[in-house]
Amino acid sequence: MHSIKAMRATRHFLPEPIPRTTIAEIVDTARWTGSARNRQPWRFIAVNTETLRIQLSKLGHYAGHLAEAPLVLVLLSADNGFTDTEFDMGRVCQSLCLTAHEYGLGTCVTTIHPGDNVVRAAALLDIEPGWLPRHAIAIGRRDPQRHRSPSAIPTGRLPGPTLLTWA
Ligand SMILES: Cc1cc2nc3c(=O)[nH]c(=O)nc-3n(C[C@H](O)[C@H](O)[C@H](O)COP(=O)(O)O)c2cc1C
Repeated sequence: MHSIKAMRATRHFLPEPIPRTTIAEIVDTARWTGSARNRQPWRFIAVNTETLRIQLSKLGHYAGHLAEAPLVLVLLSADNGFTDTEFDMGRVCQSLCLTAHEYGLGTCVTTIHPGDNVVRAAALLDIEPGWLPRHAIAIGRRDPQRHRSPSAIPTGRLPGPTLLTWA
């Protein structure tokens, strides 16, 4: 509960590599996320190669931070036509971000779009047919000097009473 309140999007990172074992442990935790019919319609590609991260950073309108993050975890969703799939992807994405937060790492969920860029990302990462790279998570240690830099995106949240009604 407290992790959710403390975890804010991180878009500026220290240039510290993230050990492969840490990423493997984060995925090992998140893979226990429940999904509709237990389909687990997700796969993950960990990208630490700088040239690939730079190319991915150009495949979204607000994806520039993927170039700076030491690790980009690309989320592949199954192109299976089930309406639950993107719901499942949101759940596993949150599990990954919260687990990374427990490891002291900052994250920023990032959208790869429009559709042409999803196709480009699939080609770039040589993804097999049937899997769509629609989102990626930038992961790394937050740069405390820059994490408050201005952003076009509003901060804060709607108040509880606006969100919750009783019937
Ligand atoms: C599905 C989804 C897509 C997102 N796409 C982007 C994105 O493309 N670029 C970006 O900078 N942040 C992206 N974000 C991060 C949101 O902007 C962020 O979660 C929101 O502004 C709240 O930030 P805060 O927790 O720091 O207040 C995305 C978040 C979600 C859940």
